[in-house]
Amino acid sequence: MKIVCIGGGPAGLYFALLMKQLGREHGVAHDISVVERNKPYDTFGWGVVFSDATMDNMREWDRDTADAIEASFAHWDDIELQFKGRVIRSGGHGFVGIGRKKLLNILQARCEALGVKLVFETEVDSDADYPDADLLIASDGINSRIRAKYAAVFKPDIVVRPNRFIWLGTNKVYEPFTFLFEKTEHGWFQAHIYQFDKTTSTFIVECPESVWLAHGLDRADPDQSVAFCERLFATNLQGARLLTNARHLRGSAWINFQRVKCEQWSHFNGTSHVVLMGDAVHTAHFAIGSGTKLALEDAIELTRQFKQHGDTAEHIPEVLAQYQTLRAVDVIRLQNAAWNAMEWFEVCGERYCDQLEPEQFMYSMLTRSQRISHENLRLRDKGWLDGFERWFDTQSGVAAAKPVPPMFTPYSVRGATLKNRVVVSPMAQYCCVDGVPGDYHLVHLGARALGGAGMVVAEMTCPSADARITPGCPGLWNQAQCEGWRRIVDFVHRETDAKIAIQLGHAGAKGSTSAPWQGAGADQPLATGNWPLIAPSPLPYLANGAVPREMTRADMRRVLDDFVRSTHYAAQAGFDWLELHCAHGYLLSAFISPLTNRRGDDYGGTLDNRLRYPLEVFSAVRQAWPQEKPISVRISAHDWVEGGITPDDAVRIACAFKAAGADMIDCSSGQVSAEQKPTYGRMYQTPFADRIRNEAGIATIAVGAISEADHVNSIISAGRADLCAVARPHLANPAWTLTEAAKIGFADIEWPRQTLSGKSQMETLFLRERAALAGKS
Ligand SMILES: Cc1cc2nc3c(=O)[nH]c(=O)nc-3n(C[C@H](O)[C@H](O)[C@H](O)COP(=O)(O)OP(=O)(O)OC[C@H]3O[C@@H](n4cnc5c(N)ncnc54)[C@H](O)[C@@H]3O)c2cc1C
Ligand SMILES: Cc1cc2nc3c(=O)[nH]c(=O)nc-3n(C[C@H](O)[C@H](O)[C@H](O)COP(=O)(O)O)c2cc1C
Repeated sequence: MKIVCIGGGPAGLYFALLMKQLGREHGVAHDISVVERNKPYDTFGWGVVFSDATMDNMREWDRDTADAIEASFAHWDDIELQFKGRVIRSGGHGFVGIGRKKLLNILQARCEALGVKLVFETEVDSDADYPDADLLIASDGINSRIRAKYAAVFKPDIVVRPNRFIWLGTNKVYEPFTFLFEKTEHGWFQAHIYQFDKTTSTFIVECPESVWLAHGLDRADPDQSVAFCERLFATNLQGARLLTNARHLRGSAWINFQRVKCEQWSHFNGTSHVVLMGDAVHTAHFAIGSGTKLALEDAIELTRQFKQHGDTAEHIPEVLAQYQTLRAVDVIRLQNAAWNAMEWFEVCGERYCDQLEPEQFMYSMLTRSQRISHENLRLRDKGWLDGFERWFDTQSGVAAAKPVPPMFTPYSVRGATLKNRVVVSPMAQYCCVDGVPGDYHLVHLGARALGGAGMVVAEMTCPSADARITPGCPGLWNQAQCEGWRRIVDFVHRETDAKIAIQLGHAGAKGSTSAPWQGAGADQPLATGNWPLIAPSPLPYLANGAVPREMTRADMRRVLDDFVRSTHYAAQAGFDWLELHCAHGYLLSAFISPLTNRRGDDYGGTLDNRLRYPLEVFSAVRQAWPQEKPISVRISAHDWVEGGITPDDAVRIACAFKAAGADMIDCSSGQVSAEQKPTYGRMYQTPFADRIRNEAGIATIAVGAISEADHVNSIISAGRADLCAVARPHLANPAWTLTEAAKIGFADIEWPRQTLSGKSQMETLFLRERAALAGKS
């Protein structure tokens, strides 16, 4: 085959040498050339990083290259944070750093040794320059000309990110991977620093665009930028100089990261197959330093496909199709992690630097990609994590001989103290008669209160009969209902040390429907016996749903009074905590969202107006509820619909409830519009809790796909939320918290005395399971 690689970066060079080698194995002399615009030693950049795992992969494919890299790389394990005058270091992170020039020289030398033609100082204008090539590799980097030419086919999706960064070097040697954070009069800067040979370190400086502009760095040439950074990090540099190899650039050397992904990776141009590789097809932010890794692994996968299908021209179409299918999965996984890490650095100045103590800041930074969890940190550096847990315990008022995992530390607000950070999230059960909770609810909530959670939140309970979602929903508008609840609350208080909360909510346009297992199913109107609905605007939830009547001021006064009456009953029943349901498209949520509130009066229009009624209800409830008892507000922090509530709005909503006296925001999302397109995934709503907690400055509850102790520990430790609500796992296992404690080997937790005999057996079984897993790995 005749193969031309356009661009001699890591992708083009490594693919060229691997294919040459594959041909040799088959006794075929593929004609392979790499065409590069630069001179052999003329390249941008300093050091690049990749993980030990990438090195293992490379060794499998070409031992000579791997050995040459290994002879020249710097390997290090530690990450060090220098922040607010503190130095914190943790180990076990395993990176490899090598100068970009050195890496390219190794690849170039190997190409030459194998017989790849290297053509330097040649600008490729078009793929049409090589009509006789069977395969053209577009390894021409992030600004790929080939990708641009066939944009209609490749459909690139390029997002330019808001931060500015400059890629510098220094001759100061940094032993660990080092992060510096410095505050100026205009905001925060951070430096990412890693050694890549015996005398040199990469020194990337990054800041938000607004901070960069405020310092006039848009007008600074590379030398002025270097001088600025030297002054900024003078305490750390201690006289060492920063270096730039971007002097050839005109104007500012500060760039914005571009996230590139493409829908299609290859194309037949009429004479040759053209395929994108490396940065030309996808980029990964330097916050997880994986761009080179992706480029090298692309080269490996394409070679593997030729090896499997045959390295002759007729196999090219199937090889290219398989290459994209297989690589796309790994790439998207890595890009997602890189995206999280990148976003963390974009917002850390405003969201975390000023808010978090250095210990928690370090934890948050280490877990920024959300790929590294609490137990993963323990595996990397147990000593550091033990120290962190002790610090967290002290903050939570725990003084124990052994560190207590953050999930099991107590939490106090007003007069309530929860024994740990797990909350049984409210879950409608649709099985009350006339709104009265009976034996079913006693057993259901009682079992979960016995199961180890710090608090159990009873399902949405309605202030009037017409406020219910279904006829089976519980209510709190009469004495019989109050007595039903009191029996449950008394049981929980008598038999357990869990707290119990009530969630008050009005169904609005989503009322008068069947239970999920009845008739046409959830959210569908009842077959018979429907009642009239009210809502902020006359908009049905489902296209075939009943149209509610727009609420009048009289309706609003009546519903507010109903909420207050329920609050008095809730206090009488002895609940410890009240949650006001302002989420999921129910009445109060429907006032907040512009999708469901189209009112023309003072209660519609701007967000302030849309919040007016929910805040009036909140204030009335707060006044009626005992002062020593907390109130949380559940909101939908994202409608997942264009034009609906966004996380930006959610911060403002949280601020408004905070100002009105709310103690916590329970951060759910969606269910406001049937058109929603949520992005589900592990802990998918936790970013809302994180943002609200650290931007609005109010305690939060994270909820949604939190299903292991590891999740809870990571969320609480990083200061992303104060409590974690867990719903579906509690349907499957009422004793979820006790089970998770045993799973992670935390035995210092009380079981109900009647069930104690089960504790040590469960702990032993999990201990054996952990030992067996450790034995396997
Ligand atoms: C600040 C910063 C820090 C980074 N840190 C890391 C890190 O720590 N770890 C890591 O793995 N990655 C890192 N990267 C990313 C890494 O540099 C790239 O992901 C990687 O180099 C991609 O390899 P590539 O071969 O696809 O593209 P490139 O390395 O960009 O190579 C493309 C080549 O094509 C040539 N070329 C382009 N157009 C033409 C043309 N028309 N004719 C001829 N030649 C052409 C270019 O001159 C270049 O040599 C970092 C990037 C930046 C910006
Ligand atoms: C059966 C069921 C009923 C629910 N009922 C309510 C409810 O009454 N009030 C509420 O705010 N959320 C309700 N939810 C949402 C949960 O409280 C929780 O936010 C959601 O299930 C995501 O958490 P999970 O991933 O842990 O299940 C319900 C969820 C389920 C599965």
